[in-house]
Amino acid sequence: MARRKLVAGNWKMHGLGADLGEATRISMSAETLDGVDVALCVPFTLIERAVEAAPGFAVGGQDVHHEEKGAFTGSISAAMLKDAGASLVIVGHSERREAFAETSETVAAKAAAALAGDLDVIVCVGESLDVREAGNALETVSAQLIASLPETFDTDCLSVAYEPIWAIGTGKVAGPEEIEEMHGHLRRQVAAARGEEIAGALRILYGGSVKGENADTILHLSDVDGALVGGASLTADQFVPIMKAGQA
Ligand code: PGA
Repeated sequence: MARRKLVAGNWKMHGLGADLGEATRISMSAETLDGVDVALCVPFTLIERAVEAAPGFAVGGQDVHHEEKGAFTGSISAAMLKDAGASLVIVGHSERREAFAETSETVAAKAAAALAGDLDVIVCVGESLDVREAGNALETVSAQLIASLPETFDTDCLSVAYEPIWAIGTGKVAGPEEIEEMHGHLRRQVAAARGEEIAGALRILYGGSVKGENADTILHLSDVDGALVGGASLTADQFVPIMKAGQA
């Protein structure tokens, strides 16, 4: 069964109210495309306004706490994201794993909390340059993925993003063989851990310096089911060509 591609933008800590015209343009373009899902994960402060600026479009957050509520200053719950109008959330981005010491166990708990709160979730994994150069990328990332998946999930609601850390925001893209090798490996490991049916339906996105110029190649590699896009998702001019490359 062909997996429908997902092209998701991650605005990271970028974007003010004045930038919401980009979200509107992106959502209007998304409506004209066939066979591809498009989403934008914006800063928490913009979620509600992005939903207003882009009605019917998938707007998400970039992190969620694993508890439902409580004394967790500065954190946000799945119910809060949902209440603001979000329909999805990114968990386990390498910038959070590195800067906020998030472990795969925490990431799995966050993913479970998001799903329980009726949010779709993108679970991110990826290796550092040291790990890649030491020849340990495949084992490291698959172990990270298996440990980051919640106990149960529906592949309609959970996707994975493979993002080599050395390719994020650097302009360096993993080579086609590196991407296919990793995506194929991850799918086989998910099959071994969770069964063929889940592995066959699971969307595995690539992320790391995806741009209009390389999107067509990347999105047509085997086992690549979409893209998670940082810098190039900030403007419609840059993001729309990537969305178009994801069309069926
Ligand atoms: P980038 O970021 O596209 O700017 O490399 C990707 C990501 O971190 O999700």
